[in-house]
Parts: sequence; structure tokens; C-alpha cells
Amino acid sequence: MFVSDCLSINEKGNLAIGGCDTVELAKEYGTPLYVFDENQIRKNCRDYIKSIEDNYNGNGLVIYASKAFSCLEMCRICASENMGLDVVSGGELYTALKADFPAEKIFFHGNNKTKQELEFALANGVGRIIVDNLTELEMLNNLANEQGKTAKIMFRIKPGIDAHTHSFIRTGQIDSKFGFALETGEAMEAIKLAKIMKNVELCGVHCHIGSNIFEVEPFELAAKVMVEFIAKIKQETGIEIKELNLGGGFGIKYLSSDEPVAYGDYMGRVAKVVNDTCKKLSVAIPKILIEPGRSIVGSEGITLYTVGNVKEIPDIRTYVAVDGGMTDNPRYIMYQSKYEIMCANKANEPKTKVVTVAGKCCESGDLIQEDAKLQEVESGDIVAVLSTGAYNYSMASNYNRIPRPAAVMVNNGKARVIINRETYDDIITNDV
Ligand code: LLP
Repeated sequence: MFVSDCLSINEKGNLAIGGCDTVELAKEYGTPLYVFDENQIRKNCRDYIKSIEDNYNGNGLVIYASKAFSCLEMCRICASENMGLDVVSGGELYTALKADFPAEKIFFHGNNKTKQELEFALANGVGRIIVDNLTELEMLNNLANEQGKTAKIMFRIKPGIDAHTHSFIRTGQIDSKFGFALETGEAMEAIKLAKIMKNVELCGVHCHIGSNIFEVEPFELAAKVMVEFIAKIKQETGIEIKELNLGGGFGIKYLSSDEPVAYGDYMGRVAKVVNDTCKKLSVAIPKILIEPGRSIVGSEGITLYTVGNVKEIPDIRTYVAVDGGMTDNPRYIMYQSKYEIMCANKANEPKTKVVTVAGKCCESGDLIQEDAKLQEVESGDIVAVLSTGAYNYSMASNYNRIPRPAAVMVNNGKARVIINRETYDDIITNDV
């Protein structure tokens, strides 16, 4: 019935997450509030690890894409689950290091890493730098030379796959700002350059074809293209690529009707393509890395809001205004993303209304959801938006100088704050 196993309705008829009553959470910690379920996040990590081990004889690594939701506690959880970590900026890297995440399991991505970011990554012994372009390759080689180090790198490749998702989050096709194109020969040129550079060591190749993908075929196709490229590299340069990172992008349940592919099925089908293609082209099966972000945390987080006012505009629509909005969840205004919403304190009641949930920003487009089914709500009710664990907190802003909400982690009926609510003083902290 629910988008995640961590959600239920308790004996009071309230929405519960991880055994905690959401109405109580709202009372104790205030709203808007992000709530995450630890057990389910850990279970997702373990399911991924098990399926990569089962399908690749243990020769694999699951890397959490921390852009989906990064904070110290999330990094600690991933470290304790033996995950790798994908970071995409100096800030995400800093967070990981401050959480004592093992540097050698950090993968540093980004299409325009700055000199300072690369220096920082090198100085801290980041495991792999995923090089996006020739300017970066050259800069990295020089910086590594200055630090007397050899940078372990992978190349970000555009495999040219259309992953049938919202065009804003499609990154694998040739017209993309990310990575080296295969078709133009650009990728092979980079490999040859890296071979003669003294301070970089080429460990692997990487691709990421998009996000929230519900089909297995694009992943199979990307795996095939990448293994073929590995064979071509061996043929043209003699280099044996030892690591293949197939990226993230696995779809999740935003709506109860969504049917994402089970990890095991995805992994089994892609592993077959990898293994068969390697055999056919006589290349050794590389270590396989995957980088899920959304599917680790997305459905395991919710946002709680308090209803301020309800505006019924006869024959047009009913606006339910909540105490957050595009500042804590910009995904509707950016992508018209679908979410399931419910009244947390009336979770047992039928959804008899069709409403538009609006935020509090000075912006007409500041909506959380349009024409969504909801229980009859009034001022003071708690509205829960489900599946907001990924790309909500991490994309939040202070527009209108609205402080970012707190986040709590729940575990078997207990809750703890993992990110404090911002204060007005936080808002002016850098003002001079
Ligand atoms: N690896 C790389 C290189 C990526 O660029 C991404 C996501 C991931 C892994 C993780 O993908 P996931 O498993 O989470 O789909 N803000 C958008 C999503 C942007 C995704 C960017 N890259 C949204 O809210 O839908």
C-alpha cells in the first residue's frame, strides 16, 4: 500500500515511520521536518551489496551517490555498511572526510572540478578521481606532480544511451556536459594521453546514463557499450581496464503505482551482459561498481508540514498552504515530480479531496503538488509528502530567507536529530 516498508498507520490512525508517530515527531521537532528511516536505508545498502556480490563473485563495490542526501550521519551510516561514496564537490568531499569516511573509498566526480577541489582531493588521498575532460586531466597530472603523488583515475564516458527519463536528468547521450564522447574518438584520445602521463594511473572507466530509470534495457546497453570500449582500449593501447563503474539511476517508488525493477533483477540482467560480452571479446571481467543515490534514501524519507490555510477557489481549485515549499523541495517546480501526499493525523480517513499543495514562497509556481488526492484538511493538520528522501534536503535553498528544516533519523520507534533546523542567525551568518 505504501511507497516504502518503513511507513504504516498506527493505532491512533496516524502515519508512522520506523515505528514513530509522525504527528508526535512534528510536535517534538517542529515542521517542516525531514524524517528518514535508518533500518530501511541500511537494508537498501545491504540488498545492493548482496546482489553485486552474488552476481559478480564478490568483485564489486556499491558506492552511495551522496548528492542524493549528504550529511555527516548519512556518511557514517554508509561507512558502517561498507559502501563506497560518490562525492561531486569540495563540500560533499569535506562532509565525507569530517565523518571519517575512508578516503580510499571516495569517488570524486564532477564536470568542472576546480583546482582547489582537486588539490584537496589529492591531499586527502581520495580513492578515485573520475576525470571528465582533458583540461581536468592535465591539471590533475600537474597537481599530482606538485604533491609528489600519482592520482588514481577513471574516465567519465558518454555511452550515447537515451534512458527515457526527464530530459533534465538524462546525462548519457552525446549532447551532455558530462564526460568524453565515444563516437568522436575523444574518449580514446584521453586514454592514450593518460597512458603517457607520469602522475595519473588509469584504473577504470565510468558511465552514468540518467536518473530514476525504470527499464533495464538502457543499463544493459550501456554495459555492453562500455565492455566493448574496454576491449577496444586493450586492443589499441594494451591497457587492461580493471574497474567498470556503471553509475546509478535506478528508479524508485514515488507513487504506489510505480513499479521499479528489483535490484536483484537489474543486477542479474546487467551482469549477464557484462560477463557474456567480456567472454566474447576475451577481456577479463573488471571489478563492477555501481552508484545508487536515490534508491538508497529516496523512499525512506518523508517531509512533514503543518497546514496554514486552505483556500477554496470555487470551480477552480483548492490550495492547501503549508509551512515549507520549493525551498525544502524544489522538485515539483523543477521537474513537475509526482509525489504521494497524505494527512498524517487523518491517515485512516479516505482521500476525498483533490487539492494543490502550495508552499509559502513569493512565487506562484511554488507548489509541492497539483491536483493531488488528500483527506479533508484544515489549518493545523500535518501533511506528509512521501518519498522525499533523495534530492530534497540536498537541493534545498534559503529563498525568501527561509531557514532549512531539521532532519531526524528514526530507528525502531526512536528518533534523533541528524541535521539541526537552521535559525535566523544562520541566515545572516555570512552577511557583513
Ligand atoms: N552517479 C553519477 C555520476 C550521477 O551523476 C548520479 C546522479 C548518480 C550516480 C546517482 O543517481 P541516482 O541513483 O540518484 O539516480 N536532482 C535530480 C537528480 C539528479 C541526478 C544527478 N546524478 C532529481 O531530483 O531527480
